[in-house]
Amino acid sequence: MRKQLIPHTDLSVSRICAGCMGLGGGWEKDTPITPDLEKQAAALLDKALELGINFFDNANIYARGRAEEVFGRALAARPGLREQIIIQSKCGIRWADDPPGTPQRFDFSYENILSTVEGSLRRLHTDYLDILLLHRPDVLWEGEEIAKAFAELKQSGKARYFGVSNQNRFQMEYLQSFLPDPLVANQLQMSLLHNGFAEVGISFNQHVAAYPDGWEGVLEYCRLKGVGLQAWSPLDRGALNGDTANLPANVQKTAVLVEQYAQARSVPAEAVQLAWLLKHPAQIIPVTGTTRPDRLAACSRADEVELSREEWYSLFASARGHEMP
Ligand SMILES: NC(=O)c1ccc[n+]([C@@H]2O[C@H](COP(=O)([O-])OP(=O)(O)OC[C@H]3O[C@@H](n4cnc5c(N)ncnc54)[C@H](OP(=O)(O)O)[C@@H]3O)[C@@H](O)[C@H]2O)c1
Repeated sequence: MRKQLIPHTDLSVSRICAGCMGLGGGWEKDTPITPDLEKQAAALLDKALELGINFFDNANIYARGRAEEVFGRALAARPGLREQIIIQSKCGIRWADDPPGTPQRFDFSYENILSTVEGSLRRLHTDYLDILLLHRPDVLWEGEEIAKAFAELKQSGKARYFGVSNQNRFQMEYLQSFLPDPLVANQLQMSLLHNGFAEVGISFNQHVAAYPDGWEGVLEYCRLKGVGLQAWSPLDRGALNGDTANLPANVQKTAVLVEQYAQARSVPAEAVQLAWLLKHPAQIIPVTGTTRPDRLAACSRADEVELSREEWYSLFASARGHEMP
């Protein structure tokens, strides 16, 4: 697996990041961590390492903390591994009833950022996060508070670099104006079927059915400033891989095309889907979500696939359901 340097950092990461949202046994409250869940996390971690994947994405909320916990236990059982991998986690989404009686909400307050990181470090069995992301924009955010929290985390060594997720260009730019160090990541939903990031580039000054609001300038801002782009749900949760008979015509057609390109190269379909993101010159890092070592191996083969410009546009046209304007 080839590696790339995240701009403004010393982090050399695999072109594919292994997301950990599926670890820890789901979103239910108060469910126990079983030996099987521990084994699942350990097997995914070991397979990732074998494949040359050294970048792992987590969040305090995944499986209500159990995703970080099972990953952390696997890490703790592998002495010396921590310094060889890059761990990213997130803060800012709060469950309802935390504390009792509160609604689900976003919280970028100084106190919540710091206490969330403490919890993540404890569960992950590590002293530091390589990257901390603000998970989803908090409408009530105060730039000064975020800057104060980041400064303290950096100074104490508990988080090395900072980024965002699900933010538009203006939110990034506004937040950046409070920070002494550059934001190093924006993690966004990007895939063949969730293709607003690409659509926005061709739909200006055109009559299009669904203009992808919010995407204006996101890629350009990130490329201009060196904010690393990461794609969540890069496989559309398997929508293109199973039985597509009841799905819209564009999805069916895209699945057929993906399979055709995959067969021509003797690689799994997942490899072609991720290669579509990797082809973009912004060096987008797909964040996979599988919990299965065999599927992670299928994903890793994207590193060997080079789609031609013609293939890339054929997939795009098929997924958007229309030829280029
Ligand atoms: N920043 C954010 O707001 C945000 C939001 C969502 C996710 N994320 C991150 O992005 C990562 C990926 O998200 P995702 O899980 O939605 O990504 P994904 O790779 O598009 O989907 C993976 C999920 O789909 C399932 N799936 C079923 N059939 C599949 C197939 N044929 N191929 C691939 N997957 C199939 C997987 O199950 P199996 O486990 O059985 O393979 C897994 O649950 C997460 O782990 C998390 O780290 C971030």
